[in-house]
Amino acid sequence: MKIFILFGITFACGFFGNFISNANPLPYEAIFNFGDSISDTGNAAFDYPRDMGPYGSTYFKHASGRMSNGRLIIIFIAEAYGLPFLLASKNITKSQGDVKKGVNFAYAGSTALDIEYFSGSGVSTPQKDNSLIVQFDWFKKLKPLLCKNKEECDSFFKKSLFIVGEIGGNDIFYHLFKTITELQEIVPLIVDSIKNTTIALIEEGAVELVVSGNFPIGCNTDILSKKISQKKEDYDEFGCLIAYNTFIEYFNEQLKKSIEIIKQKHPQAKIVYFDYYNDAKRLYQAPQQYGFISDKVEILKACCGGSGPYHHDQNFCGTSNTTICSDPSKLLNWDGQHFTEAAYKHIAKCLVEGSFAYPSLKPAPFKIA
Ligand SMILES: *[C@@H]1O[C@H](CO)[C@@H](O)[C@H](O)[C@H]1NC(C)=O
Ligand SMILES: *[C@@H]1O[C@H](CO)[C@@H](O)[C@H](O)[C@H]1NC(C)=O
Repeated sequence: MKIFILFGITFACGFFGNFISNANPLPYEAIFNFGDSISDTGNAAFDYPRDMGPYGSTYFKHASGRMSNGRLIIIFIAEAYGLPFLLASKNITKSQGDVKKGVNFAYAGSTALDIEYFSGSGVSTPQKDNSLIVQFDWFKKLKPLLCKNKEECDSFFKKSLFIVGEIGGNDIFYHLFKTITELQEIVPLIVDSIKNTTIALIEEGAVELVVSGNFPIGCNTDILSKKISQKKEDYDEFGCLIAYNTFIEYFNEQLKKSIEIIKQKHPQAKIVYFDYYNDAKRLYQAPQQYGFISDKVEILKACCGGSGPYHHDQNFCGTSNTTICSDPSKLLNWDGQHFTEAAYKHIAKCLVEGSFAYPSLKPAPFKIA
């Protein structure tokens, strides 16, 4: 049964697309994105410029803060909808022309919960608050550049796509020292924050929105390295930590419930759920089907990293004592925490052309190739 479903999905992902002629208006006039390093296209790098070493090496030849070897999911989505690579909000002073095609407020390391929550809980986090509510404030401050009055804003935002998340992954990462049961206790707070920002955007005039779930972190190289277990039964047949994946399933269920609540309160809004969990999980379960290596041990390793069973330790990718794999397009994980461009491409393709977005986005004029 499972194999049959997987086959169906693969087929569906390559099947749609290219319906719209280029003469038609684009499905979305702009994309506004909120999130963390999964979608940051330069905001953290603006505040903390540094040599990012091999980041970006496969595609851009420079990193600009993008935490992968190439394009991110959000960039593939922008491409598919005929929009420019998303402009980081901090870079706007340099090139104002593109703001009407969309702006990216995502910030690497940012959390769904604001910094006050963390300072109260004794967990160490980045010095600056770049959490979801702060990103929403950046959006509000930027609004005068986007539209002049309510009528104009309503009309523009109606034709724009607002993406909230992935966010919340860092809230979990900062609490990794806790037990799974303790982690579950903060899920309602994280979900509440995502819900609040989503509602705030709807109140600003957003009509088409995406709320993204979280990834199967039990398969994440960083988690696998930090949570090594001697008990065989802690791992599934693909080498992923069962408890962490089950935890994310719980997280995503809570998130989906809150989306239902938002839909009831705001029936005019169209909210799409991005199922990052199952979209990414199928890549771990049958990597060879998507052009990745089939070796069950190697596929869990980071491409760029240091020592240890997963080619990943506390050394940041690109610093001394780290090495890069010979072919990043054959691996899923780039630097321990983040995916490779090749993995992001497959994830994005199934969001845009396939069956991991509920309900689907508008048909994209361009294929993700
Ligand atoms: C979400 O909004 C509600 C209602 O305004 C508020 O009580 C709650 O504290 C907010 N939650 C978060 C996590 O910001
Ligand atoms: C790199 O490895 C060498 C030899 O093990 C060690 O002396 C050095 O401290 C390491 N450098 C970093 C940045 O970890």
